[in-house]
Amino acid sequence: MFTSDSEQNEQITDKANQLKEISKRIKNLEISPLYSFRVENNYLPVFGEGNINADIMFIGEAPGKQEAESGHPFVGRAGKLLDELLDSIGLSREEVYITNIVKDRPPRNRAPRISEINIYKPFLIEQIEVIKPQIIAPLGRIALRTILREFNLPFSESKISQLHGEKLKSTTSFGDVTIFPLYHPAAVFYNRSLHETLVRDFQILSLSIG
Ligand code: URA
Repeated sequence: MFTSDSEQNEQITDKANQLKEISKRIKNLEISPLYSFRVENNYLPVFGEGNINADIMFIGEAPGKQEAESGHPFVGRAGKLLDELLDSIGLSREEVYITNIVKDRPPRNRAPRISEINIYKPFLIEQIEVIKPQIIAPLGRIALRTILREFNLPFSESKISQLHGEKLKSTTSFGDVTIFPLYHPAAVFYNRSLHETLVRDFQILSLSIG
């Protein structure tokens, strides 16, 4: 269907406004157990950023210290590696959308608890519905498990070692989507051999982008 320039601009403004509204609700999410930790430490919620019309959305676990201090996702060591992996397939951060399941930093970089995931997940789903990506790439075990359950995929007990680099098809309110599980970039810091795996999976990913 033909969409004029002014219609396209209106759609972009509309998406940006919807995302701003979701982000405002997260900022005021006093019911979250991570809210007081954020306020006490002068941290910021990390909503996510990038191209709001991106074909691909990367979803990590939760912000770390540097992310909570800056308000931007994946700006620390794992983020540098994510930038390199994007660059290896000719993409920049500005062309994709990057966010996390949980939008506030858990103390001591511990994994987010199920109760925390459940509090933030509805916001992530709204975010996905606004951005409407064709490909969702969960980064690591926790993002994978959350996304598989949310999209009713019959692999929710599968490990990332079994599913990374696979294209899993699902349907959403806005059409078909491919779930493309990836190792979390930080996994490379514990197991160097995963770097090669990630590079290879990004190559597979690049072939799926229209
Ligand atoms: N790890 C994540 O999962 N998310 C970030 O934003 C940074 C590190």
